[in-house]
Amino acid sequence: MTSMANTHNGKLFIETVGCQMNMLDSELVVGALRKQGYSLTDDPSDADTILFNTCSVREHAEHKIYSALGRLKYSKQARPNQVIGVLGCMAQKDQALVFQRAPHVDLVVGTGQLAEVPQLIEAARSRRERALAVSLDRKEAGRAAVSDSFQSYDPLREPAMRPSPHQAFVRIVIGCDKFCTYCVVPMTRGPEQSRPPRDILQEVKVLADQGVKEVTLLGQTVNSYKHTQDGKLFRLSDLLEHIHGVKGILRLKFVTNFPKDMTDDLLQAVRDLPKCAQYLHVPAQSGCNEMLKRMKRGYTVEDYREMFGRIRSTLPHAAVSSDFIVGFCGETAEAHQKSLNLISECRFKNSFIFKYSPRPGTKAFELYADDVPEDVKKQRNNEMLLLQNQISAEDNAGFIGDEVEVLVEGFSKVQLKKADLGPVSGPSQLTGRTSCDRIVVFDGNPRLAGSLASIEVDDVTPTTLIGHIVTREVQHGSSVLLPILA
Ligand code: 5AD
Ligand code: SF4
Repeated sequence: MTSMANTHNGKLFIETVGCQMNMLDSELVVGALRKQGYSLTDDPSDADTILFNTCSVREHAEHKIYSALGRLKYSKQARPNQVIGVLGCMAQKDQALVFQRAPHVDLVVGTGQLAEVPQLIEAARSRRERALAVSLDRKEAGRAAVSDSFQSYDPLREPAMRPSPHQAFVRIVIGCDKFCTYCVVPMTRGPEQSRPPRDILQEVKVLADQGVKEVTLLGQTVNSYKHTQDGKLFRLSDLLEHIHGVKGILRLKFVTNFPKDMTDDLLQAVRDLPKCAQYLHVPAQSGCNEMLKRMKRGYTVEDYREMFGRIRSTLPHAAVSSDFIVGFCGETAEAHQKSLNLISECRFKNSFIFKYSPRPGTKAFELYADDVPEDVKKQRNNEMLLLQNQISAEDNAGFIGDEVEVLVEGFSKVQLKKADLGPVSGPSQLTGRTSCDRIVVFDGNPRLAGSLASIEVDDVTPTTLIGHIVTREVQHGSSVLLPILA
């Protein structure tokens, strides 16, 4: 017998913008709603529940959601039972303002209240009342009370809801205490809180039993992780060691790292634990000390270089990627040049580049003028992208002729597009990643997804290695046979 709660057969449309943390939140919310009997639709006009999981890091991401909400203004005329909800960072940041800007919204649910979503949807539908569920503002109460109001949402996982059956995100830290002056995250995701190691390990074991091979640990500052359990302090390096023992997991990653917290014990753990990906995302944000100071990043470019040197000496084969903000308040042409210099010097595997977007509620918004014109931001963005692409292409070219080991993920984007257009014959183009996080495409049997394969690299682009599967002959009846195309 199914309970009443399980008999709902409504259709759910969800749109997610933003970071991996948001992708994980959406996966978990959808999992909870599917348990209640909802099924997913990709057509909002066919849905009786429409959810937006939102991002506030840049203004553009918020615009996108408000425009999408605007388009739904008359949607309820066709489906009077429809419930429209705004979840996540923008919900926490804008709160009741969302109702003012989009009066047809029924629910506004912050990052710390996601567990309540199923019940709030039902209440909104039956009582036709608006609901606002958000956490306390950071200045509104003491740390403990604010922390309590941001609840980490990590229910048991449902395999069907993962974007890929073999890969999973696992949250280990919520919130952020760094308060970089440009950033809304400490407000939208609350105080930094590390989950207990016991819960994380349990979650990874469940995922491994469900067939997950690659786990990516998530935190806004993932390497700030610390939790005392049974009198013992666990750092990220300790956590990695414990997770490393979980049978079935082949690869372990963690994002995003804060440069000041890149301690030697962590680098040594990545060196000594073979399942750890040789990949570190450590955003620099700028190569200019004045900018770093204004950003309140807590390090100088010399500190960043020192840290980078430690990565290179402990992990000579690791790939490092970064984030940069161009056009931050007061950024001169010289300051911009210093960021370009840092990119040339570090030769990042890739950099995510963002034009500064002033965010109300942040210190930079209060203190500094957004004085770099949009066209200059655009030009600096393009210049930086060009330099980074050139470096990525050159470094990728160094792989031509090499054999790399990849964890096969599934069909490539090209293959998926082809399949959309109709039945496909012949070999499938697959995609996978190296331990150093480089994307590799090659032809192969889709059944290889979730396994490790050897690929010889024939060609490259700035973002991708292109190759073919290496098949080995069985020699003298002893050697192993690697995956062969079916
Ligand atoms: N404007 C532009 N980029 C930003 N980021 C964070 N806040 C802003 C902002 N206000 C960038 C940083 C961060 C990444 C996730 O987004 O580079 O590392
Ligand atoms: Fe934002 Fe800085 Fe925290 Fe990263 S470390 S989430 S940029 S405040």
